[in-house]
Amino acid sequence: MTVEKLYSLLRDMSLEEKVGQMYQLMALFYDEDMKGVLTGPAEHMGIGQEEIRMAGSILGTAGAEQLREFQKKYMEHQPHHIPMLFMMDVIHGMRTIFPIPLAQGATFDPELVEQCAEVSAKEAAVSGLHATFTPMVDLVRDARWGRVMESTGEDTYLNSLMSAAVVKGLQGEDMREWGKVCACIKHFAAYGAPTAGRDYNTVELSEHTLREFYLPAYQAGIDAGVGLVMTSFNTVNGIPATTNKWLMRKILREEMDFQGVLISDYAAIAETIAHGYSEDEKDAARKALEAGVDIDMMTGCYAKNLAALVREGTVDEKLIDDAVLRILELKNKLGLFENPYKDADPEAEKTLCLCDAHRKLARETAARSFVLLKNDGILPLDLSKKIAFIGPYTDNKNILSTWAITGDSGDCVTIEEAAREVFTSERTSFHAGSQILGNEVHLTGFEGAHGYQAKSEYKSSEELTRMLSEAKQAAAEADLVVMPLGEHFLQTGEATSRGTLGIPDVQLQLFREIFTVNSNIVVVLFNGRPLELREISEKARAILEVWLPGTEGGHAIVDVLTGKVNPSGKLPMSFPYSVGQVPVHYNEYATGRPNQPDVEGRFFSKYIDIPNEPLYPFGYGLSYTSFEISEIRLDSPVMKEGTSITASAGVKNTGDRSGTLMVQLYLRDLKASVVRPVRELKGIRRVTLASGETEKVNFEISEEMLRFLRADGTYGSEPGAFRVWIGDSSRTENCAEFRLA
Ligand code: GLC
Repeated sequence: MTVEKLYSLLRDMSLEEKVGQMYQLMALFYDEDMKGVLTGPAEHMGIGQEEIRMAGSILGTAGAEQLREFQKKYMEHQPHHIPMLFMMDVIHGMRTIFPIPLAQGATFDPELVEQCAEVSAKEAAVSGLHATFTPMVDLVRDARWGRVMESTGEDTYLNSLMSAAVVKGLQGEDMREWGKVCACIKHFAAYGAPTAGRDYNTVELSEHTLREFYLPAYQAGIDAGVGLVMTSFNTVNGIPATTNKWLMRKILREEMDFQGVLISDYAAIAETIAHGYSEDEKDAARKALEAGVDIDMMTGCYAKNLAALVREGTVDEKLIDDAVLRILELKNKLGLFENPYKDADPEAEKTLCLCDAHRKLARETAARSFVLLKNDGILPLDLSKKIAFIGPYTDNKNILSTWAITGDSGDCVTIEEAAREVFTSERTSFHAGSQILGNEVHLTGFEGAHGYQAKSEYKSSEELTRMLSEAKQAAAEADLVVMPLGEHFLQTGEATSRGTLGIPDVQLQLFREIFTVNSNIVVVLFNGRPLELREISEKARAILEVWLPGTEGGHAIVDVLTGKVNPSGKLPMSFPYSVGQVPVHYNEYATGRPNQPDVEGRFFSKYIDIPNEPLYPFGYGLSYTSFEISEIRLDSPVMKEGTSITASAGVKNTGDRSGTLMVQLYLRDLKASVVRPVRELKGIRRVTLASGETEKVNFEISEEMLRFLRADGTYGSEPGAFRVWIGDSSRTENCAEFRLA
């Protein structure tokens, strides 16, 4: 539809009809037979059937057949036959579930992540969806917050790369195209910095920190053309983001130039009352509209109040018109006026979802997301050995995530299933050994999603004792033990903040018991957040971090354990030495008394009972081979105006097998008008080398890469000395210095 026709459509619409476009409801409100997933509280909203039928979009349901019927029925009733938008959380896959976003961040490979998003978009589109609420690009530094699993970690540069990659993968160049859906950058802004790591809690950041570390990844998504931005639940500077005019009008719309549709998070407009910012739903509606929120997700605030606010002269109808025009433009960009069913195709849904090619990509991505944290040489496994797989994740299909609400754990390949394809049965045994969680734990996820109720199937003490003794017997008879352990998938995700960061106690107990009969242990770790691993790290001979690896997780894990794939993943988020360090992140400021572990003395910024450094740092990850990186060579010691500097180093595979290294470039501004981090990631190179092979990697350092938010509020660089590192983690000491003239 042309822009002129959109304007004339807008002019023809009644006020009630316009308001109808500005709220989004669960499909369940239309027809209780509609299959859907509830991703938030479903309080009664006090709106009638007429308002319900006028809504401009729904969330939380998929399926080509049912959405085609729904669209047909809805449009017949809509006065101007305006098509409805169908949105859902396809966070890391539709039916083919990829590793969680934090794991995808560990690939350090935005091209690979873009491919996963492309596949997710195709499967979502043929399933009838038009938009998905992803990527979440909130910077995270606090592993106590359960939603770190949805992020790509603690680094602004890596998050920005991943943000743009997911938007491009989902939307392509033109959302009208087959197999493309609208992406949604969320949660604007700084939802990943809740005080004390407690979900929905207050966010207290300086404007400098907000702009310097948190906003760039949102900007990257906007620059990639994202069609939707979602508000966050938290306050920013004491005002709820969803009604924060400074944040939404000045920063998001004006400065960041976002022209698309701004949707609230689930019930966030009404929740400004609980925040103590809005008097009632009418007040909340006015404030959210004035802040520029176009769609009210799952409350009656807009539905019940906007028309009255206009008629009584409290708000200008132009605010409504601007919002509705943006919503109509989004529907137009998706081609819905010409084809309201877009790519909904029941046949394609059957043949495309979970097809071999998609499973293959999921398997490859999972293997490349794994991070080898420790290995004394026991990996890759020697298949001639007697191996006991012992742990509750040995044969567990729940390896997707609480956000894989359109996936089905029944499609997953477990470690045992994959291992039985490779290991000979007489030399291999499989035992759970314990539950994932104790009997007393009861967790819930999103109602309507697969396995959302996780009540440990009760086991008597006799049963548990038998499980343990069988496992210990198998361990005693084996040469080595592979222990798939970790968090329950419902211990991570929304509303799952934790005050401790250990693996479940029953599993730590199992680990200790097995260690008494066989110390040749390889831990395969399932989790959605950095965990505290000190004891496991001391005792296990190897640790393979596999996160929540998705549909093909079992195959990918066996591919890596057997050496078919040499791991190359790097940590996108620091693993703390202890929860007492949290929030801990590599790109901190030096302080006036930087710690010097090798120097005796008190007056340093340090703890008296634990080290400052995390157990495993950002950017860290081992390989089955080894690499050497030569000293850095700079093509000039001074960067003159308008020029750049090339930093290069030779990378050599000094091991006995081929491998891939994600080579990292870090920079530090040694003196500036505001203090600068001790180092920041500014470049990544993926280098694959055969044993003995060497490759030179070059990084061009431009003046633009040295820019930051200066004391005077402008964004730019400042002359002076800089340090550059090229290495295999944020701990590399391979550095050189140059000056910016
Ligand atoms: C949830 C989440 C948000 C999600 C939305 C819709 O509460 O905060 O990330 O996209 O509701 O399900």
